Amino acid sequence: MRTSLFLAAAAFFATAASADGSHRERQHHRFDTRVAIGFRISPVQLDLRGKNPAMVGLGSYVVNAAGACNDCHTHPSYAPGGDPFQGQPEMINTEQFLSGGRQFGPIVAPNITPDENGRPGGYTADEFLALMRTGHDPRSPERILQIMPWNVYGKMSRVDLLAMYEYLRAIPALPDNPAPGP
Ligand code: HEC
Repeated sequence: MRTSLFLAAAAFFATAASADGSHRERQHHRFDTRVAIGFRISPVQLDLRGKNPAMVGLGSYVVNAAGACNDCHTHPSYAPGGDPFQGQPEMINTEQFLSGGRQFGPIVAPNITPDENGRPGGYTADEFLALMRTGHDPRSPERILQIMPWNVYGKMSRVDLLAMYEYLRAIPALPDNPAPGP
């Protein structure tokens, strides 16, 4: 009697443990894939010192495979001969990567590379989260950002948004794009 109870309990725990293990493995695998893709597709060298590498990789995935930040925050978006919309093999304009410069009428997409304190666009993580979720720039809270689809980005998970921030901390710091244009 005791033995069979013990065996039943052991079997239960063994099943529970393996179910849990494979579930965790699957989740881990899914997460890893995005991180690995993120590192593969980042067009620029990354400075991982003092950063969380998994978050940087995930952030690259969010920025470069989903966010399309390059479309507006890099001007021109592609290097000469590297415009996929002209049928050319894609080459992102790494020399101005996310340094801003695309004009939308009177509004210019700003530089979102790290400032002298390593903060993307000069924002703290909390300010960045608030901006993405509300469309209010903490520097001029009465305005609502009119061009960027912050309402779409703001629906992302906190982890994805923080990963975006971590990636932007790891890209090369650049001065504001010297040649803005439409
Ligand atoms: C459709 C074009 C567009 C896309 C795509 C876009 N942005 Fe923007 N973004 C802008 C413009 C334009 C502004 C300035 C907003 C304004 O003044 O109304 C801005 C503002 C910002 C700001 C505030 C900076 C400041 O100094 O005002 C941050 C941070 C930012 N964008 C990050 C991102 C990130 C990260 C992505 C990708 C996930 C992204 N943007 C995608 C156009 C875009």
